[in-house]
Amino acid sequence: MISKTMQDAINEQINKELFSSYLYLSMAAHFENKNLAGFANWLRVQAREEREHAMKFYDHLLERGGRVLLKAIDAPATGWKSNLEAFKEVQAHEGKVTASINSLYELSLKEKDYPAQVLLQWFITEQVEEEKNAAGIVSQLEMIEAHGTAALMLDHQLGKRSGE
Ligand code: FEO
Repeated sequence: MISKTMQDAINEQINKELFSSYLYLSMAAHFENKNLAGFANWLRVQAREEREHAMKFYDHLLERGGRVLLKAIDAPATGWKSNLEAFKEVQAHEGKVTASINSLYELSLKEKDYPAQVLLQWFITEQVEEEKNAAGIVSQLEMIEAHGTAALMLDHQLGKRSGE
């Protein structure tokens, strides 16, 4: 059975993952209103992934005889001055989530909670991907601000090259 300390910490993380989902849903609506359907789509998919992250922790607690105690989810922001500002927020937010996952992992080491360590290793790998994706979009948006879209179009073109 999972310890009360780990249970409480995982319940906190469930709340953070659900807040992430809320934040990205709010951003998706913002971009939909601006007729940027591709940005909105990316964020909708991201919001769904965050809910799946919450459910991984939720199921982990239940499988180990723990209690799921859902807390209130804070309201996310509703508007962003620019596309770049919105995706910088995604990047900063993912950095915070990484720090939180790392703290949970440290706690699982202290508690000698081996099953939680296995679960958290998945999340540690996932956060590398999450941060990389957000940083990639931020850097493309910065490139658009600095050089317009030409460099991106060329990059898209060069990306089509296959091995042979
Ligand atoms: Fe669940 Fe984007 O971290």
